[in-house]
Amino acid sequence: RIAPLLAPSFLAADFANLQFETERLANSAADWLHCDIMDGRFVPNISFGIPVLQAISRYAKQPLDVHLMIEDPQNYLSAFRDAGATNITVHYEACTHLHRVVQQIKALGCRAGVALNPHTPVWVLEDIAADLDQVLVMSVNPGFGGQSFIPNTLRKVAALKELLVDNGSPALIEVDGGVTSENATALVEAGADVLVAGSFVFHSPDPVATLAEMRSLLSA
Ligand code: DX5
Ligand code: ZN
Repeated sequence: RIAPLLAPSFLAADFANLQFETERLANSAADWLHCDIMDGRFVPNISFGIPVLQAISRYAKQPLDVHLMIEDPQNYLSAFRDAGATNITVHYEACTHLHRVVQQIKALGCRAGVALNPHTPVWVLEDIAADLDQVLVMSVNPGFGGQSFIPNTLRKVAALKELLVDNGSPALIEVDGGVTSENATALVEAGADVLVAGSFVFHSPDPVATLAEMRSLLSA
């Protein structure tokens, strides 16, 4: 078993101190910085957008993993890339022409990801799997931090792993929502390569220490 990448989610960070939050993660076990973009349309919440991402990118030392929970993501891809996105993940449920959107993300020089809501089966990705750099499995319904992990995700990650292998896809499996040190090991055993964690990290007394503990738990 290979140690997964850790991607703390800024959604649970202190928005009034984003420079501080970004700088303290620079010397932490965080591999990617997960940025949740919500438009109040695709999901029933609004988080932050392009200027705030750009502000984070001024202090970021790790790749910015941008999760677009927005309608019509194709209209904003270059703006997010220009604001500092390294990885751009769009929702399967938000894209009628998903293949085109994925190619557009790659043409911008970003890693391309597709996210699946909890009700969306993994087999919808069969014909595009080989083109993807990452697949984000939502383990809560997108829109809010601090929700509890949906247990069926473990089965889903295992099924996705099989689908990726069968289709010769190099895509990393990322799990997002309700991730804690309680379910992290089981997720990695099921096939997760990247773990996103918001409240578990930022609502802990010491986020940097919490990331270090997750790292040591998962590399044991
Ligand atoms: C939810 C977001 C998640 C969120 C996870 O819509 O996509 O990235 O920040 O937060 P926790 O870890 O608190 O469930
Ligand atoms: Zn997310």
